[in-house]
Amino acid sequence: MGVSRGGFSSRFGFIMAAAGSAVGLGNIWGFPTQTASNGGAAFVLVYLVLAFCLAYPAFMAELLIGRYGQANAVTSMQKMSRNLWQKRFAFVIGFGGIICAALILSFYGILAGWMMAYAIEPISKLLGFQQAASWLTVQSVPRDLIFSALFMMLTIGIIRRGVEQGIEKWSKRLMPMLIGLLILLIIYVFTLDGAREGFNAYLNPDFSRVLEPDLLISALGQAFFSLSLGTSVMIIYGSYIAKKENLVTLAAQVTLIDVSIAFLAGLLIIPAMYVAQAQGVAIFAEDGSLISGPNLVFDVLPSLFAGMGDIGVFVAFAFFVLMSIAALTSSISMLEGPVSFVVERHNIERKKATTVIGISILLLSAIIVVNFDLLFGLVINVSTVYGQPIIAMLCCIFVGWIWYRNEILAEIKQGNEDVEHSFFWKIWPWYTKFVCPTAIGLVFWHSL
Ligand code: PFF
Repeated sequence: MGVSRGGFSSRFGFIMAAAGSAVGLGNIWGFPTQTASNGGAAFVLVYLVLAFCLAYPAFMAELLIGRYGQANAVTSMQKMSRNLWQKRFAFVIGFGGIICAALILSFYGILAGWMMAYAIEPISKLLGFQQAASWLTVQSVPRDLIFSALFMMLTIGIIRRGVEQGIEKWSKRLMPMLIGLLILLIIYVFTLDGAREGFNAYLNPDFSRVLEPDLLISALGQAFFSLSLGTSVMIIYGSYIAKKENLVTLAAQVTLIDVSIAFLAGLLIIPAMYVAQAQGVAIFAEDGSLISGPNLVFDVLPSLFAGMGDIGVFVAFAFFVLMSIAALTSSISMLEGPVSFVVERHNIERKKATTVIGISILLLSAIIVVNFDLLFGLVINVSTVYGQPIIAMLCCIFVGWIWYRNEILAEIKQGNEDVEHSFFWKIWPWYTKFVCPTAIGLVFWHSL
């Protein structure tokens, strides 16, 4: 191969990059939306349990594969294989994850483009460009093409610079900005009429719903999407972590940040909806559930911002910038999966590989934009409802059943000498071997 791989220069850099991948539209839009349509706090509770009990062990498995293999997803898994069949199986899982990441990026880029358009809209209104402002908020093929392309250019620009100067440097800048903006927005919304009611709706669980199968499926899907599992992303990020780092705690820290930001986003969005209601905006759908999906982000919240007068312009701008930043730190990780594969397996220069792959994915986004009704939902389903859980499950099976236990232990021990006697080591191998694949399989089977 002969390619110098680079890696994260610090622990903080890795945490910001991995949390950057994990924290995205899934946290700030998906999580509050799912919470709103699944009985409020009951969903939050189930999500927390599943994130730590199922997604975290699977996340650990992916990081370990990468750090052991020190290479892209396919090569890393093939290093763990001992015969031809295992190598083929490794290829299917690794490559499947890479395709999954590319598919997710193709629709994610469109959504992120919408966020950017909505961020510019209040500014153009402020400057008196009324026509431009309304063009920005109406879905059209030209608008979606232009903004997906803009967003993809940003993503390509960062990934071309490599791990340390691209992914790490930008995640370290953007993630603290995101957290700061989120907290400021929450504080502001809390000063408004109606917020308290939203706060109650968010935090009072309806325990009777906790075991509903649909709720469980949504919560597990959300947890896997949120930790970017089953996409090769955490394998490749794992491969950039130094051997001296303790993976068990790093993974726990990233999971904690991811879950906390989703929780904070709920604290912003759900009270904001009730504030909007206090201002006369309809927030309940016909069946009595809270409005969710695109209507929430693109109708309810903009109506709320518009009702705030002059300050609303800045709040709207801040909110959509927040969304765009969250999307960017995730999209770079999605592009890194396929790029690292091509660079390492085919010996292609990084900049060239990034541009070619980024533009190919952008073309896919363009095809989706032009055939929106037909393809948008389909690509989301194929990649996130089916692809991610299946591949994450196969990764657990690979680690649990194919990799030798002593090899796994040797890898985890690097940076964590005492792990053998820890609570983690008592349950995690058993978990990856039996519990994770079975639970993911059950949920998946049910969803079929
Ligand atoms: N975790 C991201 C989010 O919650 O928005 C989405 C994501 C990123 C999914 C990277 C898959 C991926 F490979």
